[in-house]
Amino acid sequence: MAVLVMGGTGKTGFQIVEQLVNKKRKVIIGNHSGKSKLAVSQLNVNLRKFDLIKEDVSQIASKLGDVDVIIFAAGASQSHPEQAEWLDLDGAVKLMDAAKEVGIKRYLMVSAAGAADRATWNIYDIPEYYIAKYYAEKELKNSGLTYTVVRPPILSDGPKTGKASLSKTGNNEIISRADVANMVVLSIDDVRALNRSFDLYSGIEPMDDLLNRL
Ligand SMILES: NC(=O)c1ccc[n+]([C@@H]2O[C@H](COP(=O)([O-])OP(=O)(O)OC[C@H]3O[C@@H](n4cnc5c(N)ncnc54)[C@H](OP(=O)(O)O)[C@@H]3O)[C@@H](O)[C@H]2O)c1
Repeated sequence: MAVLVMGGTGKTGFQIVEQLVNKKRKVIIGNHSGKSKLAVSQLNVNLRKFDLIKEDVSQIASKLGDVDVIIFAAGASQSHPEQAEWLDLDGAVKLMDAAKEVGIKRYLMVSAAGAADRATWNIYDIPEYYIAKYYAEKELKNSGLTYTVVRPPILSDGPKTGKASLSKTGNNEIISRADVANMVVLSIDDVRALNRSFDLYSGIEPMDDLLNRL
């Protein structure tokens, strides 16, 4: 059985894929184009084409037979905010329904810091994304799946530090995709992360300590 990284050809998803491969996990990348600009071919992983916007639940479920963990790291690009409700919300929910149809129990989601609080939806002038993430999170919590939601703020291509913070301190609103990936990968099997949702800012606390406080 494998971990499906939906959006595994994206900038964050690919970091998750690489870290899982380094841990010798069997990985399947799900993406829209069925191709990748990143070095997927150098990793021993399958690339599987999904269209979470156009495909229905049974089409999606038909491609999940060898999967036991799903990580949702797909997302509408900032140049297509109109896709947020179709992908980050409805696509994520169809993937939840498909997971349940085939008996998958574990589902992790990369959301966005600020999504949990309506008062912050307008901060970056992209409320569509936050609204989509808010309702996707809500559906996941009510889905019966064992969930983990990691909410990063602005993402950078900086290095993995293995450290972060669960709260905003004023100047820590950029975190590297590698650190987000680190926390997502740690959370897969860690009982402290089961059925938890949390913001993840950059910081100086080791991730293992953060897991104790979820
Ligand atoms: N960027 C930020 O600063 C930021 C901040 C907070 C949270 N987030 C969240 O973090 C996650 C990752 O962001 P990112 O910037 O790393 O993503 P990204 O590089 O834009 O990658 C998006 C991924 O989604 C896939 N995708 C697009 N449409 C799809 C569809 N219809 N069906 C299935 N897959 C589809 C893409 O596949 P293709 O390779 O085929 O295009 C790609 O793998 C997203 O959920 C995003 O909302 C981002």
